[in-house]
Amino acid sequence: MNQDHIIPSHVSRQLNDWLEYFRDLGFDGFYLKHAAEAPAAGAGQTASVHQPAGAEATPHEPVFPSPQPPQTMSLFEPQPAVAARETLEGIRANLGECQRCKLWRGRKHIVFGQGNPSAELVFIGEGPGADEDEQGLPFVGRAGQLLNRMLQFIQVRREDVYICNVVKCRPPGNRTPETDEITSCSPFLFRQIGAILPRLICCLGAPAARTVLGIKEGITKVHGRFYDYAGIKAMATVHPAYVLRNVREEVILREDFEKIRAFLSAR
Ligand code: URA
Repeated sequence: MNQDHIIPSHVSRQLNDWLEYFRDLGFDGFYLKHAAEAPAAGAGQTASVHQPAGAEATPHEPVFPSPQPPQTMSLFEPQPAVAARETLEGIRANLGECQRCKLWRGRKHIVFGQGNPSAELVFIGEGPGADEDEQGLPFVGRAGQLLNRMLQFIQVRREDVYICNVVKCRPPGNRTPETDEITSCSPFLFRQIGAILPRLICCLGAPAARTVLGIKEGITKVHGRFYDYAGIKAMATVHPAYVLRNVREEVILREDFEKIRAFLSAR
């Protein structure tokens, strides 16, 4: 047997953890460089995974590479996410029966997203509420009915847009998602956007605006402005649930949906 091709089982486990980690970040293309092409590999060495200084490899602890120039990762180099466009089905399959953050404990259903996988317009809410958790679909409760009315107002059919949330599981008592929950879940949101590549993203409420656009100011200040998200136009408006509690603010939602209509009709 050719000894060059044997990978010790603990290295194989580490590689597996490492690949899972990058898959969660959206990298799905990897290639194996021949040992002869890898300058850092010594004679007779077939694989070397870079470890952070001081980190000892143990069979059960994932060892993730620290950011380094590619030559320090001699055999396996992730390709950029733009190399292959993912599908929503593939991202959903990768999400699986997610337990990446604590929200899984209280959920009935994961609410991944709903709508046209080639939508021109993507809405991003905060997180599922009770009705959404029950049905596994986004914006099906009272806030969803208001969103439906706004879509009718601009003559856009709900089935033509894509609707999803920053976190895919219901936060207990409908509280705002916490930072660690957003950190775990948002890579899936970014991958969804990358799979759809819409013309316009509309963030509904502050958590979506903060996560997608890094906006820290209040929504009532920045609503209706156009921003850029990785070459895609994006805007933020007030969350429909906020409007349900502050009915006078419906005017903001209407104004912003008018802007969406104008944007989509300009080619
Ligand atoms: N509020 C949200 O932010 N998302 C939903 O799906 C429902 C209500």
